Amino acid sequence: MQQIAVIGAGTMGRGIIETAVVHGISVSVIEPDAEQRQRAVTAIEKSIARGIQRGRVDLPSPATAMERIIWHTELAPAVGDAEAIIEAVPEQQSLKIDLFTQLGTLCRPDVVLASNTSSVSITFLAASAEHPQRVIGMHFFNPVPIMQPVEVVRGVETSSETIERTFRLAEQMGKQPFAVQDSPGFVVNRVLMPLINEAIFALQENIADRATIDALMKLGCNHPMGPLELADFIGLDVCLSILHVLHRELGDPKFRPCPLLTRTVAAGHLGRKTGRGFYEYP
Ligand code: CAA
Repeated sequence: MQQIAVIGAGTMGRGIIETAVVHGISVSVIEPDAEQRQRAVTAIEKSIARGIQRGRVDLPSPATAMERIIWHTELAPAVGDAEAIIEAVPEQQSLKIDLFTQLGTLCRPDVVLASNTSSVSITFLAASAEHPQRVIGMHFFNPVPIMQPVEVVRGVETSSETIERTFRLAEQMGKQPFAVQDSPGFVVNRVLMPLINEAIFALQENIADRATIDALMKLGCNHPMGPLELADFIGLDVCLSILHVLHRELGDPKFRPCPLLTRTVAAGHLGRKTGRGFYEYP
């Protein structure tokens, strides 16, 4: 693909934009918040510069990639020519449904309409769009420029052609796509969130302190980050909301969020992004 659109320039949106432009794809970005746009420009440029310095990105300068980004504040002028649209707005079901309803009428008929959602059902989103066979999940992992996999999520109506084109786009972006069914949490969060939740229970029950739990999981399981550190990195609000979805939709008590997680989120300690979660980030 030559031209895609990305909606939202938060943490995941930025990573997706960066990954596309360093692989030669032009990206129209829709981000109405001026401050968020400015933060995204700075972060993407800095990350590409580091990639070039470390030999991970093969470009003469960040400018070559930055020139491939066109910034917009509204949907209509940005999405008309896009071959694929990747939505990366906050995880609010109503926001995403509203977006997919609008996109259904604004885009070319052959567009791939992808959502980076980690918890909303793709089939549900597709039901709000005009051509549900074009709707698919493209679930990236944080930090997007570094993490290899993409969960490609097939809804009930998703066509084989949409799946094939999404696989090709992910590969063009240097990623490794994996097909998964539309089920709560898909594969990674279905497995990862109970692990993180159990680590929080271990902390709540004072089985060990936070540093010990993380060190044991890092060294004992060869994970790059301990589960509490990883929860702070993902965002404790995001972890809690995914656990709620797993608990509600699968109905199994093993997914009930740990009260310590619920309380920490209620106190506004959401992890790295607020400067405090299970750890402090001065
Ligand atoms: N954005 C871009 N690049 C980043 C980055 C970021 N936020 N953070 C780190 N990097 C890059 C660094 O630039 C560095 O790249 P180079 O080697 O090319 O310079 C590389 O990552 C390694 O970074 P560091 O040496 O600074 O640190 P590290 O070795 O400790 O690695 C890490 C950092 C890659 C984040 C590593 O700790 C890790 O893999 N952690 C686990 C991350 C993980 O599990 N992510 C999935 C979360 S689940 C999810 O995203 C899905 C969901 O729906 C919740």
